[in-house]
Amino acid sequence: MSTLNFDRHRRLRRTPTLRRMIRETQVTVDDFIYPVFAVEGEGVRNEISSMPGVFQFSLDTLVKEMEEVVSLGIPSVMVFGIPSEKDAVGSGAYHTHGIVQKAIRVIKENFPELVVIADTCLCEYTDHGHCGVIQGDQVLNDESLSLLAKTAVSQAEAGADIIAPSNMMDGFVAAIRKELDEAGFEEIPIMSYAVKYSSAFYGPFRDAADSAPQFGDRKSYQMDPANRREAFREAESDVQEGADFLMVKPGLSYLDILRDISNLYDLPLVTYNVSGEYAMVKAAAQNGWIDEKQTVLEILTSFKRAGADLILTYHAKEAARWLKEGYKS
Ligand code: PBG
Repeated sequence: MSTLNFDRHRRLRRTPTLRRMIRETQVTVDDFIYPVFAVEGEGVRNEISSMPGVFQFSLDTLVKEMEEVVSLGIPSVMVFGIPSEKDAVGSGAYHTHGIVQKAIRVIKENFPELVVIADTCLCEYTDHGHCGVIQGDQVLNDESLSLLAKTAVSQAEAGADIIAPSNMMDGFVAAIRKELDEAGFEEIPIMSYAVKYSSAFYGPFRDAADSAPQFGDRKSYQMDPANRREAFREAESDVQEGADFLMVKPGLSYLDILRDISNLYDLPLVTYNVSGEYAMVKAAAQNGWIDEKQTVLEILTSFKRAGADLILTYHAKEAARWLKEGYKS
């Protein structure tokens, strides 16, 4: 009698304990960075319609939210500010008493151990909604750098533990590093949004941060989604300029890029599980079309498997709860 010759892969999948033992990738709460949006006012808790479960908070409600974040064991938050007034040069971004500076201060006062990351960009603060200053319909590179560096220093002065520039101007890491060092913040790391694509997945964020460009788009500074090798050039220049972390953004459609960058560089690697990715999962879950918990944990696992060390995600609080309950199948 002839026998078939083949491998029995199912042997190692037989029981939950065996599966647990050979699992290659673990997601833990230590991997999460939770993005939060701060607005002026009191008692504000505005839910973003395209991002169920995500809110704009005034400083008082933000502190309550941070209590929950800390109690869930989430180590870090990324703070975005939405100013009540905008202008052409984004003055609110680098004002000592700007909304993001106030938010950082109040979080650090109440939760000194929480790692507070400041998103460094002008788009929430400019009336035209672009990430730098403009002349006509052009977004000016070098003229924007000094304002971004000023923004970073004001955020560090407010107590930010990490500066995360997301503006995609060329030379932003070099410019920010120099000004931080000159201001005595040589110990403050830069988490560079090194590889940031011009993506339709940012749509809901622009509702949350009120930062949609009022004309044109971001294609002259953010990357073309079709390009892979360009990501290596972007990452390389940020490494040369002194970045301490690299980021690939968005996450889900760019897992190949995440894997490439992880193979090429030794810096801690972050991915941003962006607003549109969150909105899609929420919408499908609310319709009963997918199992939200299993879907979210699978997505988060895929980021880790692709090489991410840290994940910026709006799912952080829920995922932290699910991980506590024990996600082992
Ligand atoms: C600011 C910024 C954006 C996001 C993070 N920082 C929007 C953009 O570049 O238009 C997007 C985050 C998300 O979609 O969750 N430049």
